[in-house]
Amino acid sequence: MSDIAAKLPLHSLNPFMPGAGKQPPELVGRTHDLELMDRMLARTKLGLVDRGIIYSGLRGMGKTVLLLKFNAMSIAQGMATVQIEANGDAAAEYDELFHELSLAIMRFRKPGVRQGLADAFSRVESISLDFVLGSAKVELGDSDARDTARDDAVRASSYRFELLVESLAEELKNAGSGLLVFVDEFQDMSPEVMTTLITVQHKMGQRNMPFYIIGAGLPNLPGTLTKARSYAERLFEYRRIGRLDDAAVADGFQKPARDLGYSFDDAALSRLVGLANGYPYFIQAYGKAAWDASDSNPIALEAVEKGEPVAREELDEGLYVSRWQRATPLGREYLAAMASFGDSCSSAQVAERMGRAASDLSAIRLSLIELGLVYSPERGRISFTVPGMDEFIRRVTPSESQSYDGR
Ligand SMILES: Nc1ncnc2c1ncn2[C@@H]1O[C@H](COP(=O)(O)OP(=O)(O)O)[C@@H](O)[C@H]1O
Ligand SMILES: [Mg+2]
Repeated sequence: MSDIAAKLPLHSLNPFMPGAGKQPPELVGRTHDLELMDRMLARTKLGLVDRGIIYSGLRGMGKTVLLLKFNAMSIAQGMATVQIEANGDAAAEYDELFHELSLAIMRFRKPGVRQGLADAFSRVESISLDFVLGSAKVELGDSDARDTARDDAVRASSYRFELLVESLAEELKNAGSGLLVFVDEFQDMSPEVMTTLITVQHKMGQRNMPFYIIGAGLPNLPGTLTKARSYAERLFEYRRIGRLDDAAVADGFQKPARDLGYSFDDAALSRLVGLANGYPYFIQAYGKAAWDASDSNPIALEAVEKGEPVAREELDEGLYVSRWQRATPLGREYLAAMASFGDSCSSAQVAERMGRAASDLSAIRLSLIELGLVYSPERGRISFTVPGMDEFIRRVTPSESQSYDGR
């Protein structure tokens, strides 16, 4: 234990970090992924090109923190990187991409290369694209013309993005570097931007240029990408990010404690491993609560048990309540019908349970998908995006009434 740590009360040293995108004290079970990234970066420096990588998995599995970690590794290895979160609005997504690209250029460490990149950026920005767009003159109040102008603007951004990536990748390649674009919540991306990103990845790969998309999203992401461009299947390395094994989970509790001169005793640890059930988010929630409830070293089973209700509340708040509240009353009825079958079922089963025709429910089903509460793992099936959401819903809707509104 460091001198500083020794002087602080146990409580204030709590290393656990529940919360979306919060970097955990110990990133467990990801050795292979980190090696994959290391290798890709090493190869890029040698001018060798790889495929992009797509991660898919449920919420709370650690996709966002993995992307953030990769991003930091890439920067440390002298790459130019951009990290964005898709939101479904093409214009906004391009704005973010260009904004982040310009920041990546300004942050680039080698001044000579940085100047080359900045010049490429200005060059692409100054190109007039009128001749490829055949743009309609916008007359105010004419909504068709406004739509055309919007489409033109999005198309212009697509051209600009492609030109920009080409120029930047060339400059970077000469400098033994590369451009990595990290895209979180990729399944939500507008079709326009998704198609452009896939196309650009394809072309850059063919030309041996160091440009990689590293994406993360829900389990339906691989299917969504393939639907946008069928060759997306061959373009990326697809990796599922699922539950951690017990040894990794145990490390997830024990290592952060050990780093501070503490530990969990055997009974405490085995109870924690059971509670976490392989879910990274749960490690942080139960670890934090047990730590706060403990006044001994090693931390004992008693503290874990005392912390359990606190952790469950933390999980409710962090993962379930806000999502449940986002749904409309009919949406909640749909979710409750789903939950009665577990974490996944068929749309037909939901309709039957609700006593309605499946076609009557397609709009509400779609709105729940758009809210990110559920996704369709395959045609005709529907699943929760968050582990344990079904259990939460059964708990808050004990009777036939679905009147729960959070508190
Ligand atoms: N490999 C891991 N080991 C331990 N904790 C993790 C790991 N990955 C994620 N976490 C924790 O799980 C929570 C959710 O991570 P996040 O990246 O937001 O998940 P996702 O993006 O898949 O929804 C965070 O509190 C994070 O600290
Ligand atoms: Mg995330």
